[in-house]
Amino acid sequence: MKIITTIKEMHEYSADCRRNGKSIGFVPTMGALHEGHLSLIRASDAENDITIVSIFVNPTQFGANEDLDKYPRTLDRDTELSAESGADVIFAPTAAEMYGANYATYINVESLTQGLCGKSRPTHFRGVTTVVAKLFNIVSPRRAYFGQKDAQQLAVISKMVADLNMSVEIIPCPIVRELDGLAMSSRNMYLTPAEREQATILYEALTAAQILITAGETDAAIIKEKIASILNTKNLATIDYVEIVDFATFHEIETIKPPTLIALAVKFGNTRLIDNLIINEVQKP
Ligand code: PAJ
Repeated sequence: MKIITTIKEMHEYSADCRRNGKSIGFVPTMGALHEGHLSLIRASDAENDITIVSIFVNPTQFGANEDLDKYPRTLDRDTELSAESGADVIFAPTAAEMYGANYATYINVESLTQGLCGKSRPTHFRGVTTVVAKLFNIVSPRRAYFGQKDAQQLAVISKMVADLNMSVEIIPCPIVRELDGLAMSSRNMYLTPAEREQATILYEALTAAQILITAGETDAAIIKEKIASILNTKNLATIDYVEIVDFATFHEIETIKPPTLIALAVKFGNTRLIDNLIINEVQKP
């Protein structure tokens, strides 16, 4: 496993790959890798000659009172897990390497970023698109892999790539869950045992919504109310949002009309968990 920490060396490695006709698959992460990340690495390994995983806890996507300092950093273990899953290179730059003195350039996708996570984290997506654009320029991948766990992030990055004519194919990958349904996340390790037990309620609420929709319910207000009432059965859970939006525009909708995104953010103490369900078809009457 090759570990690269400088932009110069990453540029040279990537240019070598292209000269030798080798396709690069890229998996951007913030580390603390779990099965969700590893599923992206395996997908990249299956479709590309070389798989590059970036591990960078990106300061520009964290708000002032968020968990930048305590975000888990486990590079040795991440390197081992990445290698086992088929990665060839880890790109792990420092914050100073990525954002030099007087850094001044940001990418802002204007639509899609206002609602859902953009509402409670107003500078978050600007940080994500900026770092992902920089990483794409540094790595020059043919394909890049993103999880549907972060459905809004996936949509925002796809929009950036389309709008700025970037020559990378964005590959969406399904949500990987724990056995009890909790979506895997590096932040799950912040949960106390009691919070962890109650955190399965996100998946239970989404499953109930899916059952309602399969039975023919299309009224978004009724579905939202059902989800909220299930989330509220847990005393440690505080709802940040329950939203039902058009998956193409991210505009709120009143009637389910696929593709529809049902997205949740729920806080357990200071830990904010997200999960979602994409509705691609509804029951015909
Ligand atoms: P991070 O949270 O480390 O996630 C890296 C990638 O793994 C993202 O594409 C995310 O959607 C995916 N992922 C996380 N949990 C998953 C799960 N349970 N199932 C499937 N995929 C999952 O997302 C980021 O980092 C950052 O914002 C980043 C894109 C790296 C920019 O800094």
